[in-house]
Amino acid sequence: MGFYSMFRWKWLLVSGVASLSLFTFTILPATAEDGGALYNTPYDISNGERYFERQCSRCHGFDAKGNDETGAPDLTGRLRRASTEVGIFNIIREGVPGTAMLPVDADLPDTRVWQLVAYIESLRYDPNSVELAGNANAGNGLFRGKGDCDSCHMVAGRGGRLGPDLSRIGENTAPEDLLNAMVAPHDAVDPRWWTLRITGADGVARTGFRMGEDSFSVRIMDNDANLWSYRKNEIRDMQRIEESTMPSYDQLLSESELDDLVAFLFSLRREEN
Ligand code: HEC
Ligand code: HEC
Repeated sequence: MGFYSMFRWKWLLVSGVASLSLFTFTILPATAEDGGALYNTPYDISNGERYFERQCSRCHGFDAKGNDETGAPDLTGRLRRASTEVGIFNIIREGVPGTAMLPVDADLPDTRVWQLVAYIESLRYDPNSVELAGNANAGNGLFRGKGDCDSCHMVAGRGGRLGPDLSRIGENTAPEDLLNAMVAPHDAVDPRWWTLRITGADGVARTGFRMGEDSFSVRIMDNDANLWSYRKNEIRDMQRIEESTMPSYDQLLSESELDDLVAFLFSLRREEN
């Protein structure tokens, strides 16, 4: 399967959620002997991912990277208990006896289990084998130029601090998630990047990241990196905004520019030599 096609599929997910429900109930024939090979299309992976988010992420985490509190391991690296698709299938079907890893509901069709397997397998691809449509050099140019991404993001020590440092973003983020971050930035924003909108004694509403707070005052930093400090007893209105301050680039950049940026971001990894 070309990774690129999966990434396109996600693109469709982003822009056509309504039409998706049409497919959700399609029933595919399946028996356990079919093996995972039949169920590893982008469609299967994305179904597996959604099922994973509903049923498995509370222990394994939304990104499947595991969770120390629940003891559920990271599923994105090499697995301890299984090295084949059938092995993963059996763990999901039967659980790991004596641990919190319970078997899935016995009524869950094999198809669904294979889709979970396909999703887990998709987390362990070799980045060098991923073929992307975009051009990383062009993406670099957009990042520093037209896209103005570097006003908020740092890469290799250059750029702004109004968003996460992206110097190693390619190590743990799949291409379709990079695309998602650009076209749907308001999905699942880490609380670290929530903002406060405060109207103080001067009647002006200002929005910024929460930099500090004590019993008497709260401090925010706005998008121009100005710090504002408010005495709590003078605040007229304060709202917490759980959206990203990052604009959606869905309309701002063309599809091929977005492809280039994905290729650039995906190439950002720790230097290996
Ligand atoms: C209640 C918490 C919990 C839930 C929910 C859960 N798991 Fe697990 N899972 C665990 C724990 C704990 C382990 C480690 C078991 C062990 O090997 O000691 C584990 C292990 C696994 C492994 C083996 C990992 C390895 O390194 O070999 C796989 C694969 C897995 N889980 C997949 C899933 C899938 C898919 C789902 C959803 C259908 C799921 N888990 C739901 C807690 C959970
Ligand atoms: C106004 C500031 C701002 C600009 C401009 C901006 N971003 Fe962001 N970006 C953010 C913030 C804040 C977050 C964290 C919240 C979120 O997930 O959206 C973020 C998140 C991201 C993420 C997800 C990071 C992660 O750890 O998952 C990626 C990828 C990203 N931005 C890429 C870009 C690219 C590429 C551009 C330019 C086309 C861009 N950003 C422009 C502020 C910005």
